[in-house]
Amino acid sequence: MTHIDRVHVPLGARAYDVVIGQGLLAQAGALIAPLLARPRVAVLTESRVAGLHLEALQAGLATESIDAHAHPLAPGEGSKGWDGLREAVEWLLDEKIERRDMVIALGGGVIGDLGGFAAAVLRRGVRFVQVPSSLLAQVDSSVGGKTGINTRHGKNLVGAFHQPALVLADIDLLDTLTPRDFLAGYGEVVKYGLLGDAAFFDWLEVNGPALAKGDKALRQYAVRRSVEMKAGIVARDETEQGERALLNLGHTFCHALEAATGYSERLLHGEGVAIGCALAFELSARIGLCAQETPSRLRAHLRAMGMATELADIPGELPGVEGLIGLMAQDKKVQDGRLRFILARDIGASFVCDDVPGDVLAQLLAEELERRG
Ligand code: GLY
Repeated sequence: MTHIDRVHVPLGARAYDVVIGQGLLAQAGALIAPLLARPRVAVLTESRVAGLHLEALQAGLATESIDAHAHPLAPGEGSKGWDGLREAVEWLLDEKIERRDMVIALGGGVIGDLGGFAAAVLRRGVRFVQVPSSLLAQVDSSVGGKTGINTRHGKNLVGAFHQPALVLADIDLLDTLTPRDFLAGYGEVVKYGLLGDAAFFDWLEVNGPALAKGDKALRQYAVRRSVEMKAGIVARDETEQGERALLNLGHTFCHALEAATGYSERLLHGEGVAIGCALAFELSARIGLCAQETPSRLRAHLRAMGMATELADIPGELPGVEGLIGLMAQDKKVQDGRLRFILARDIGASFVCDDVPGDVLAQLLAEELERRG
């Protein structure tokens, strides 16, 4: 039996555990049964993940005689909209899911966000369990209760804070990710070291390559440490009045780049986060906040992992400086028209900055675009 970690998210009446380990799907019945009012759950998932993991989850639930009907949505970001929400909620109502029942979201960030939001609005709030299947979902989106959908106005503009009742992060599920998807999720892992734990960044520099190759003990530690950091931040600032904004390190750049590349395969979210973190550290150095060597150290680690670090690494056309700054200005984090960046005084020492000098930002972007040739 391998070791299981439990990270508690202390939110009073909404407190819950994130359970992290191998073979958790097989134990899902024992882990979830104590939370149920009756032995039945409804599983929202997507067809690709269902093909890989649904049977194992249902078998795990069956060990405690928990009946688990499932509904697979189409894979991809396209399901995370009004149509996907309607499909999910109508199915839950067809299944006669009641106020005291439990929904399970089995999948990556799309299913976690959509399933959580469907549970939040169904009968004014039904409890749900997150079973994240991607590294990105295990270390970020499944923890903290942000749920929602995209609209034609932008991503995640409609949603609710609805904390899960339990998160099961099964490290074995990461085996089925493509190397590209795994490394995209790793962008969010690095983010935790950068924003608040220099020792964790040191650890990632040493252990990152073996972890990417598949070492499960290292993967479990990286997920645990990331979740511990997120749990601490969420417990102190559940609705993002302050500190939680640090989790957006790299995201002002990332959201502009995702919009510029049409939210397509050209740039996965976690890839944009990694590039965004490298740019945020470069910007911090140019403003004189951190040493010149700090962004170089970050880029060296990302490159050693085989990850993108700069605009030159993004294939296809990109807008010019004005266009990119215009896309940044549409970010949710803009307040009173001011761009908001998470900058850093060092690795592990980030803070919110609302007054980045526009000329330094423009110069950095111009040089980055120049390198694209
Ligand atoms: N993914 C950022 C947050 O949960 O606040």
